[in-house]
Amino acid sequence: MILITGGCGYLGSHCAINLLERNTEICIVDNFSNSSIEILDKIKSISKKHFKFYQGDVRDKKFINALFLKKNIDAVIHFAGLKSVSESEKDPSEYFSNNITGTINIIELMKLNKINHFIFSSSATVYGNQHPPPWDEKLKLKSPTNPYAKSKFIIEEILRSFVIDNKEFRAGILRYFNPIGAHPSGLLGEEIHSGRNLVPAILNSLIHSDEYLSVYGNDYPTPDGSGIRDYIHVSDLIDGHLKALNYIKTNRGCHVWNLGSGNGYSVLQIIQVFESILKRKINFKFEGRRKGDLPEYWALINKAEKELNWSPRKSINDMVYDILNHLNKTRPNLKILKN
Ligand code: NAD
Ligand code: UFG
Repeated sequence: MILITGGCGYLGSHCAINLLERNTEICIVDNFSNSSIEILDKIKSISKKHFKFYQGDVRDKKFINALFLKKNIDAVIHFAGLKSVSESEKDPSEYFSNNITGTINIIELMKLNKINHFIFSSSATVYGNQHPPPWDEKLKLKSPTNPYAKSKFIIEEILRSFVIDNKEFRAGILRYFNPIGAHPSGLLGEEIHSGRNLVPAILNSLIHSDEYLSVYGNDYPTPDGSGIRDYIHVSDLIDGHLKALNYIKTNRGCHVWNLGSGNGYSVLQIIQVFESILKRKINFKFEGRRKGDLPEYWALINKAEKELNWSPRKSINDMVYDILNHLNKTRPNLKILKN
């Protein structure tokens, strides 16, 4: 059985469905700090499978240990954590507590219960601002400055040390670039309220006709002046998790892989993709650069392609279509998609 921590969140819920559809036994732990109980019904209704859910916090040692004792868990995919860079700057200790203490707790209890396979949600933010793109796993990292990125950087370091002392313990660190997209059913996708990311901001401008999208920066040294990122469909990202889990079953140690599409798209290009599917214009205005943003980055994904036999399959059009299909299904009164 696989434990998915944070399994009611955006990425964890897609992972749960994928595993259930492969008839893998799973259980989910979530404290609903950034999700809700309705997600459980959505996972059930899409997968048509049963699974166990435990409401609780990954920092609660008694709770997690009881779960490890009760269930025959042989791997943990650890999504539970906080993910907003700006929020982390306002409340660093909450980020260190949830992300670092939560992870240490899980791996210590895994060791105690002889559970040896661990997949960790890291982030491209660990590369900091010191390297020109594309970013590959061989780059030397320095501790990043914002508390969110720092928490991921520190956990990566902890995992590298942990496997040295615990030879049977294997860890897969996945550095996500920008996951977007939704489940093709339209029932599940990223919550619009979640953070200040580009996709939720575009959707807000569609939902509220009096709101416009702020495009942060039109003077970057990029072909159209707006910021470039590497967007990856959530289903490709999750596929990478399952392949990483298989890999660590036969390979000891701590391994790291970038999960991105390997391509960069600018904010203006993303807006154009939305406009072409919507067949209408998006209301946007240029604003100054957002503090802490880099002009451009994207992933080198050869390592995951070679070692995991993984490659992303969904195009940027697929990602945007699925996002709009999700919005269309969850807010039918908006009549977003005109077919
Ligand atoms: P999310 O907020 O949608 O999901 C995280 C889930 O974990 C939520 O359901 C939340 O309630 C739960 N949770 C948080 N703290 C918890 C705790 N202490 N105990 C139990 N449950 C807890 O986020 P997501 O987008 O699904 O991201 C999952 C992971 O991937 C996070 O660790 C995040 O830092 C990382 N990540 C996400 C992105 C992204 O753009 N989505 C990019 C890079 C890395
Ligand atoms: N952007 C806008 N307007 C908005 C929001 C974003 O123009 O309203 C721009 C940003 O300036 C940037 C691009 O859109 O150029 C992408 O920004 P996001 O906020 O969507 O994503 P980030 O690249 O800043 O960060 C995301 C997650 C991090 C994660 C990182 C991994 O928020 O948690 O990707 O690369 F770590």
